[in-house]
Amino acid sequence: MIIAIDGPAGSGKSTIAREVATRFGFSKLDTGAMYRSVALSALQRGISLEDASATAQLARDIRITFGTENHGNVSVFVDGIDVSDAIRTPEVDRNVSAAAANPGVRAAMLDPQRRFAEGHDVVAEGRDIGTVVFPEAELKVFLTADPRERARRRVMQRHEGSEVDASVIEAEIEQTLADIERRDALDSKRETAPLTCADDAVRIDSTSHTIDEIVSMIEHLIAERR
Ligand code: CDP
Ligand code: CDP
Repeated sequence: MIIAIDGPAGSGKSTIAREVATRFGFSKLDTGAMYRSVALSALQRGISLEDASATAQLARDIRITFGTENHGNVSVFVDGIDVSDAIRTPEVDRNVSAAAANPGVRAAMLDPQRRFAEGHDVVAEGRDIGTVVFPEAELKVFLTADPRERARRRVMQRHEGSEVDASVIEAEIEQTLADIERRDALDSKRETAPLTCADDAVRIDSTSHTIDEIVSMIEHLIAERR
C-alpha cells in the first residue's frame, strides 16, 4: 500500500507521516529532504541554482540515502555524509524551491523515489506525491492549515523545550509567515509538478485539529481503503 501526503510548508506532513508509519509499520519517504539535499550540495559546491543544467547534473551525480531513526527522524546522507541537520538551515529553506523548480532535478529524483516503494508499504510526503510520483497511491491526503498557524507551529517547533520571550516568538512568527508564504507561492506556481491537490485526494485542514485527531482520521481512511 502507498499513502501519499502532500501539502504546503508546516502543515504537519512529516509529523503525521512519521506517526502513521510507526503505527502501521510502513516505511516513510521524505521527498522534501531529497530536494533539500540537492540545494545544500549546490550551495556547498558553489553551483548557482540559476544554472539549470549544472544543478540537474549535480542532482544526477549525488547519491541520497536514508539511515535509521534519529530522535524520531530518519537520517539523510549525501554520498555517505550525514546532512540531516545541514538541510534544515534557513539558507537551504530560502534556496530549496529554486532547486525543486528545475525539471532536470525533478527527473533525477523520480526514479529513486519510486524505487523506494518497491516491495513494501510506504507513506510518502511532499508536494507532488499524489499527482506525479505515485498517482496510483491507494490513499492520498492533501494536508493544509491556516498559514499563520503553520508559521506559529514552525516557530514553536524551533524553540521546543526552551523558554523564549513572547515578543521574540511574535517577531519570528511574522518572519516565518513571510518565508513560508514565499516558498508556497514558488512551489505552487512552478510549471513542473507544482504543489496542488490531486483530484482524488482527501483534503484535511489541520488548523484546529491535534496530531492525534489527524492520525485517527487517516487510520479510518486506511481501514476503508483496505
Ligand atoms: O518541511 P517543509 O514542508 O517546510 O518542506 P519540505 O517538505 O522539506 O520541502 C522542502 C521543499 O522541497 C519544498 O518547499 C519544495 O520546494 C520542495 N519539494 C518539492 O518540490 N516536491 C516534493 N515532493 C517535496 C518537496
Ligand atoms: O512536514 P511539514 O512541514 O508539513 O510539517 P511538520 O514539520 O510535520 O509540522 C510542523 C509542526 O507543527 C510540528 O512541530 C508539529 O508537531 C506541529 N503540528 C501540530 O502542532 N498540529 C498538527 N495538527 C500538525 C502539526
